[in-house]
Amino acid sequence: MSVTAVIGAQWGDEGKGKIVDYLAQRSNVVVRFNGGANAGHTVSNQQGEFRLHLIPAGIFNPNALCIIGNGVVVDAEVLREELNELQKRGISCANLRISTKANLLFPWHILQDELEELRRGPHKIGTTKKGIGPAFEDKISRKGIRVGWLLQISKPKIRDRLILLQKEKTDFLRWLGGEPDSERLIPVLEWVLRQKEALDPFIAETEPILWEAIEGGKEILLEGAQGTLLDIDFGTYPDVTASLCTAAGASQGTGIPINKIDTIIGVMKAYTTRVGSQKQSFPTEMPPELADSFRKRAGEYGATTGRPRRIGWLDAVLLCYAAKINGFTSLALTRLDTLTAVSPLKICWGYKVGDKIISCFSLRQFSIDMLERAEPLYIIQEGWSHFPEKARDICDLPVGAHRYIRTIENLVGVKIQFISTGPKRDQMIELK
Ligand code: IMP
Repeated sequence: MSVTAVIGAQWGDEGKGKIVDYLAQRSNVVVRFNGGANAGHTVSNQQGEFRLHLIPAGIFNPNALCIIGNGVVVDAEVLREELNELQKRGISCANLRISTKANLLFPWHILQDELEELRRGPHKIGTTKKGIGPAFEDKISRKGIRVGWLLQISKPKIRDRLILLQKEKTDFLRWLGGEPDSERLIPVLEWVLRQKEALDPFIAETEPILWEAIEGGKEILLEGAQGTLLDIDFGTYPDVTASLCTAAGASQGTGIPINKIDTIIGVMKAYTTRVGSQKQSFPTEMPPELADSFRKRAGEYGATTGRPRRIGWLDAVLLCYAAKINGFTSLALTRLDTLTAVSPLKICWGYKVGDKIISCFSLRQFSIDMLERAEPLYIIQEGWSHFPEKARDICDLPVGAHRYIRTIENLVGVKIQFISTGPKRDQMIELK
């Protein structure tokens, strides 16, 4: 039996979808535990190429139970589209369950997200405009509507809550400047009944299912969305998402006790990317010309929004921070192949902040708030000019790639267990 959490070690977009799809083949249960339809997990396997926003990437293993956990906010319309798309392409979703405790995301959350971003002006977060912040805000202020309540929608208690919430939202959105006749200020009961019909077969009390799976010695995989640097507490606040993106969130977002999670895999891309606003701190960002050509070659555009991602050298200081916060037991390194022909390669091992040096070897004086003042200090290494497409063993990798891997392990102090060498499921090196 093992419970494995897959956690983003950077600002999201690390390639968690690929790692989850790979590990899900040997898992009995796969649970998505945070975020919402702001995530875009790209998966490429024998069944084709897919972009998942809410459904766990374990859905491609027909023998695995897939759960959308309580820590997720569920945009029922996106979920319905995703279910239709998968089923149209021959992927069964019969094994999907949605936690009764997950909160529903309503169309008004999306409108609120758009209007609030506009009001922030130059201080905008650069959200995905999927309504995530407003939906979590309602959850925390105890106004939210839980997925499980769809099953009790005929009860006056639930209807009254819903109608009260709609009234409050309508007033607030008008105050924010929302069009009163916008279709997103919807006839809420009709909308809810439509969602109930579609989601009804999937709604379940999921914690007892998970406890039973643990007691039965099953393999459980917990799928994180976004990344540690976007976590509401430990990320680059306020430019973060609204959910719990760390290993602790994997427990809180599923109901699995923290001491049952025995493996915590930090997924890290071989370089760094960030999306949001251009003004947000990014110490290792590449100069525009280099970043532009790299972005095009690597296809670094948001899976959910299509926005160009900012590109930077690998920042090992931030990886060390993520390793401390999450307690990574191993790392999964993705997109190593994409660095082919980029030479020399830079790896940030420390920051100069005023007259202080903060390095991977001691984070005692590190603060996530110091990024805007941090001057990166780099190790410079020769890269590699050729990367074998069929690399399936560490010995197949070029010398420069070996050197790069060793440097990361030495700086971060955590072993690399998986090396992804391309988008397909079988393009993976697993080290024992
Ligand atoms: P929100 O999650 O839509 O509220 O966006 C908040 C911040 O998190 C923005 O900077 C987004 O670009 C970022 N973000 C949210 N989801 C992702 C993701 O899946 N990958 C990368 N960045 C994300």
